[in-house]
Amino acid sequence: MNQYIIANWKANQNRQQTYEFIRQFLALTATSPLPQDLQLVVCPPAVFYLEFVGKSLPLAAGLQDISVFAGGAYTGELTAQNLTGIEPAFVIVGHSERRREFGETNELIVRKCEQVWSLGATPIVCFDEPEAASLSQLLQVHAGKSMILAYEPVSAISTSGSAGNLDPQALNQQLVGFRQLFPGMPIIYGGSVKPENAGSYAGICDGLLVGSASLKAESFVGIARNFAHQ
Ligand code: 13P
Repeated sequence: MNQYIIANWKANQNRQQTYEFIRQFLALTATSPLPQDLQLVVCPPAVFYLEFVGKSLPLAAGLQDISVFAGGAYTGELTAQNLTGIEPAFVIVGHSERRREFGETNELIVRKCEQVWSLGATPIVCFDEPEAASLSQLLQVHAGKSMILAYEPVSAISTSGSAGNLDPQALNQQLVGFRQLFPGMPIIYGGSVKPENAGSYAGICDGLLVGSASLKAESFVGIARNFAHQ
């Protein structure tokens, strides 16, 4: 199974910083390629998505959200209709910030997954422990569809919690239950991952979802290399 290192830029970065990330990322990976079985994905703010396309970068670009509506009179939404022909490979749905700030529920998040699948893309479905059982039940009718589950304890997220990154042994124990709830699905971890701690998660989960430390190419590439080389 592939492993994933996914950057969630959230609502950070401007155009110049996006160019600079791409320039540095190309320089860092030109002479020392990344491992083949590691899929890198950057999910920038949607307005910068196309900056990543057609540049022969050794990564895929994704989006951070999608409208629950397929298209039409929904001012401000980014719909599957808009994304036809853009073809993102991955779309994050259900991040805890959207659950907290925009009241998103598991039911709504699964409807957003349906929009992602309608594009032939893979949803990266975020959850914390309290949401896991109900999410698993709602996803049962979609068994066999492509998806990545992202376990993000809110307490471990650098901007919303104070606990720091989850201890890898604690993650290992949590994953026993999550693997029963989401059989056969890749499960990645997110929360205060940095180059210094990325290697400690290798062999435990199927990849990492990175916020703050993904904004600079050097630390994002450092995380990927340290995860791969343990
Ligand atoms: P941090 O890596 O900044 O803790 O953010 C994690 C996250 O929310 C990724 O989606």
